[in-house]
This record gives sequence, structure tokens and C-alpha cells, in this order.
Amino acid sequence: MKIDILTLFPSMFDGFISESIIKRAIDKKLVEINIHNIRDYSTDPHKKVDDYGFGGGKGMVLMPQPIFDAVEDLKGENTKIILMTPQGIKYNQEVAYKLTNEKHLIIICGHYEGFDERIRSIVDLEVSIGDFVLTGGEIPAMAVSDSIIRLLDGVIIDESHLNDSFNNNLLDYPVYTHPVDYKGMKVPDVLLSGHHANINKWRLEEQIKRTKERRPDLLEKR
Ligand code: ADE
Repeated sequence: MKIDILTLFPSMFDGFISESIIKRAIDKKLVEINIHNIRDYSTDPHKKVDDYGFGGGKGMVLMPQPIFDAVEDLKGENTKIILMTPQGIKYNQEVAYKLTNEKHLIIICGHYEGFDERIRSIVDLEVSIGDFVLTGGEIPAMAVSDSIIRLLDGVIIDESHLNDSFNNNLLDYPVYTHPVDYKGMKVPDVLLSGHHANINKWRLEEQIKRTKERRPDLLEKR
């Protein structure tokens, strides 16, 4: 998969692409991530990318020209263009799974003050990562890319995302490591038993119990 990200703050992505699982996925060529500075596409002599909003009220608004030109330049035959905005569909694991089928994504990071409405005309999907407002679309773009990349074949051991929270609308089961007894809190006996059928049964029961307690809305979807 190829992901092109359009942003006014490219250096925000330095850590994202140079650490841990995402870096490994890039090194193994399981994903290609390109970070593009929207400013580089401005045809303005001063590389201006925003201007005041007509009608007043708002602060600076991202102009359509650099975004239209960047998308035109980067887009291929099978490109899905995503705009990060609090007005988009609410992102979840199901949307992440669907997006793993795409070959090429262009993710546009919205601007803190707003973006020209006409930008919406070239976008396939508007995505929000939740009902709160961030200063820009960069953190949402990282969240969305990360959640897709970890699901791509070969990125993490297959089994480790099969039991993720939200798969089958259940939260994940509890896990423990050494020591067996920490400050009087013990690892459940079943996990030390080596009896895999019992362990699986216990895990499913814990998933259901936990989901009932914390996210009853998910159980209703099952
Ligand atoms: N930009 C600012 N807030 C956002 C959010 N919650 N989701 C996506 N993009 C955003």
C-alpha cells in the first residue's frame, strides 16, 4: 500500500515513520509513506497557502489551489482521497479493515482554522477520529495510517490482531507476564495451566464480561 500525506507540518511525521512497527513495515516495503508539504504546491510567489475567510469570523482558511494541484499530481487510477476533519464519519476498526483493501491513499490533513469548502469536491471520504477538535489533521492522519498499516499482511504476527479489541465487537481479554505474583496480585491459574481449550474459554468469557461492563453498546451490535 502507498500512503501520501498532505500536511503543512511535515516534521510532525518524523517520529511516526522512523520508529517501531511503522518503520519496520516501511523497511520491509509492506507500505510506502510519503509526506508532502502543501506549501510546496502553492503557485503563489510567497508560497501562501491560506487567506482570510469571506464573510469574516473565521481565522485563516486553507486555499483550494495547493490541495487541488497536489492531489492532481499524486493521484493514480486507484486512489482513495481522505480528508481528516471533525465533520467526517467516525473512524473505527471496521473502517480500518475496509481501508486495508485500498492500494493507494492520499490523506489530507485539515487546517486548524478551516479549509475552503471546495476542497470537499475532490475528496472520497471525510474521517473524524472522535468527537473532539484537534489543532490539525496530522495526529488523526497518523492514527488512521497506523491502524491500517498494522493490519497489512506481514506487519505484525497474524494472530496478534485477530483478538484485537473491537474485532467481533468485543474488547480484548486481559494479559499477564512475569512475575506470577506481583504485590499479592496473582496471574489467574488457568493461564498457567497449559490447557489451551480452557484458556480460550476463559479469554472469551473475560472478553464478554469486560465488554458488558465497559462497552455494552458493542454487545448490542453483535
Ligand atoms: N482535525 C481536527 N480534529 C479532528 C478530528 N477529531 N478528527 C479528524 N480530523 C480532525
